[in-house]
Amino acid sequence: MDLVTVSDEGAVRTIRMNRPEKKNALTTAMYDLIAAGIDGARKSPALNCILIAGCTHDFCAGNDIADFVKFSVQGGTLGAPIIRFLDVLAHCDKPLVAAVQGHAVGIGTTMLFHCDYVVASTQAKFSTPFVSLGVVPEAASTLIAPKMMGHARAFSLLVMGRPLLAEDAKAAGLVNMVVPPDAVDREAMKAAQEIAALPPHGVLAARKLLRGSRDQVLTRMHEENAIFQARLRTEEARHAFEAFLTRKKSA
Ligand code: COA
Repeated sequence: MDLVTVSDEGAVRTIRMNRPEKKNALTTAMYDLIAAGIDGARKSPALNCILIAGCTHDFCAGNDIADFVKFSVQGGTLGAPIIRFLDVLAHCDKPLVAAVQGHAVGIGTTMLFHCDYVVASTQAKFSTPFVSLGVVPEAASTLIAPKMMGHARAFSLLVMGRPLLAEDAKAAGLVNMVVPPDAVDREAMKAAQEIAALPPHGVLAARKLLRGSRDQVLTRMHEENAIFQARLRTEEARHAFEAFLTRKKSA
């Protein structure tokens, strides 16, 4: 089974995470495939918009925690595929649409800060338990989230790890539309096709103005990654990963 599927419909590329048995938790192979899908669309003159989706009932449960353990044991360096994925997200100049079902955890939420139109299911739940896992928020979320939703809401989400339900996420400016679960993919594709039908160079120019400085985003990602990697080596982080991975056995 493909862990990530990529398909094109008109000028819209759909990238779908496809690891349902693990709630679409991302492995290094998946980061590589998603990054290649985004980068390929960015470079293709035939494609104007990129739609990111999960499969079955969830968007993405974040980084695979077993991989975090590996990174921690191997000296705390985030794998190259993760760094590349973040870099591709920051450099993507074409509009990104997301279709969010169920859980969006960790990078499943922070990647949405790089999206331009987010359709969420009424059942969607956005959470970023970085700090309780012993690490720190990434993907320039520490820069973009406070601007988007204000410091208070960003602190509650990114530091306290309190989840946002779909309507809260809409009120916070992260989500455009909340629809029943069976309408998420359809509405997201509708929005993507609408964006793709606009004059493409005008869209790129307007998006660039709205997004602001890419250098600031890249600098913040770099700072976050350095702290994240240092935190990966801590006992706090190792204990938190272990607690998740063994939670069923000890329950
Ligand atoms: N890494 C590795 N495995 C993960 C995972 C992750 N991030 N998220 C879920 N899984 C696995 C579970 O271990 C479980 O595997 P198993 O069936 O072999 O035991 C399977 O996916 C289903 O998850 P489960 O926890 O049983 O589903 P749930 O509906 O009760 O809860 C979540 C869903 C997403 C709330 C919960 O799985 C979770 O909190 N995951 C961790 C999220 C996280 O902290 N990500 C990192 C953020 S930085």
